[in-house]
Amino acid sequence: MNWQTTSFVDADLDRPEFAHYVVGFDSARDHGVVAVDGDGPIGVAWVRFLPADDPGYGFVAEDVPELRMAVDERGRGRGIGTALLARLLDTGRAAGWPGVSLSVEDGNTGARITYERAGFRTVGRNGDSDTMLVRF
Ligand SMILES: CC(C)(COP(=O)(O)OP(=O)(O)OC[C@H]1O[C@@H](n2cnc3c(N)ncnc32)[C@H](O)[C@@H]1OP(=O)(O)O)[C@@H](O)C(=O)NCCC(=O)NCCS
Repeated sequence: MNWQTTSFVDADLDRPEFAHYVVGFDSARDHGVVAVDGDGPIGVAWVRFLPADDPGYGFVAEDVPELRMAVDERGRGRGIGTALLARLLDTGRAAGWPGVSLSVEDGNTGARITYERAGFRTVGRNGDSDTMLVRF
């Protein structure tokens, strides 16, 4: 999977504001789903519970995990992102999370449409991004 065009590059992991989405993933609490085709991983969606003193861009509350997701360019527009999101939200409902939040930059129309269809609504603003939330 070409992460350079879809998500984080290795250099981002040196930046705390990005690293906390990946480093220290707690498999007992955080959760992720990966889509795979014959060539390997093609998409991923995951949530992290981040503390108020180290919030993500889309932080809402400590008990509301924040979503990140990406689909490789070769797989976009085929419903993979929608399916990953649905699976992750189903897991969250079953686990009793109050909801899921995220941050989406201005201009990322494709992502915004995907999120709105899944029930996310804008609840705040952070820099050049909207904070979106779906409540269960
Ligand atoms: C956002 C992203 C995860 C969507 O994944 P995807 O597998 O392409 O999404 P889907 O195929 O499920 O598309 C869902 C809907 O979003 C819309 N959409 C997706 N990409 C779009 C684009 N580039 N432009 C306009 N609309 C788009 C379509 O309306 C689509 O609905 P349709 O089935 O009626 O065509 C993917 O585009 C991606 O990885 N983008 C780069 C990383 C990123 O922006 N991540 C999100 C950060 S907030």
